[in-house]
Amino acid sequence: MGHDKLRKFRENLTFPCLIQPDASSLIVKGSSGLVLNDYRTKGRWNEDVFRREGPIVLELGCGKGEYTIDLSRRMPSDNFIGVDIKGARLWKGAKYATEHSLANVAFLRTRVEFISAFFAPSEVSSIWLTFSDPQMKSENSRLTSPLFLERYRSFLAPGGIVNLKTDSTFLYQYTLAVCRSNSLNVLVSTPDLYGERDRVLGEMEGRGEAESLFEVQTFYEKMFLRQGYKINYMAFTLDHEGPFVYPEDFDAAFWRSADPRRKLDFQGGDDVFFETV
Ligand SMILES: C[S@@+](CC[C@H](N)C(=O)[O-])C[C@H]1O[C@@H](n2cnc3c(N)ncnc32)[C@H](O)[C@@H]1O
Repeated sequence: MGHDKLRKFRENLTFPCLIQPDASSLIVKGSSGLVLNDYRTKGRWNEDVFRREGPIVLELGCGKGEYTIDLSRRMPSDNFIGVDIKGARLWKGAKYATEHSLANVAFLRTRVEFISAFFAPSEVSSIWLTFSDPQMKSENSRLTSPLFLERYRSFLAPGGIVNLKTDSTFLYQYTLAVCRSNSLNVLVSTPDLYGERDRVLGEMEGRGEAESLFEVQTFYEKMFLRQGYKINYMAFTLDHEGPFVYPEDFDAAFWRSADPRRKLDFQGGDDVFFETV
């Protein structure tokens, strides 16, 4: 491991806003297989972590946490938690939040697969999925698969919104198919966010996040925009009785071929952070 990563990992231990649970205490062997234990903050985020009341908003796969930080400033009465598995990326957001004394920001280092260990029923008011890996080969690894929606439903308040902002036409079309198959309420959807700005803003009227949607561009979003990809966005709720079903009308082969493999060119360096457009 490089010196810079080690330095960041060491510094991560000093940030009060960054929670890094030990995976070995989360997942334990039970008599009939692996068991996911509840983490001590479950149901207690406002009381124990933020020490203030407020609706809780999650950014899953937050990377450096651009949305978490930006939304926390625009919506000061809400509490924001950025979740990612990569400590060197979380370092950026956690350092920023610490240096700027942002009282309504926390970061959680864990796999999203374990997310239901951290939140109690109705504890979360909305979720952002920002440039999630499309996971073209593994449906159950997609952050909008029925498996993940089931996990989110265990803690999302009634009417809570899931926001998906992505460069991936594959993931966008897949998520639309999941919503169709489960008759979920899609509040707004566009395959070209910036091209359909006025319509989207009109349909989002009254939602505090509307400005952030256009004004925050994450590290990955900037890279994909430079490469000429359009940005897809959709927002939906999980108002569904019974188990979520897998979509039958999604043509994975077609959408895979329509979505070229991305080049990862980190032009501008790793330090580009938190610039609004
Ligand atoms: C393509 S990056 C996007 C990062 C950031 N949202 C952005 O737009 O710049 C995907 C992020 O998801 C994180 N990630 C992928 N799979 C994950 C998982 N299973 N659990 C937690 N984080 C995950 C990666 O570490 C990475 O930071």
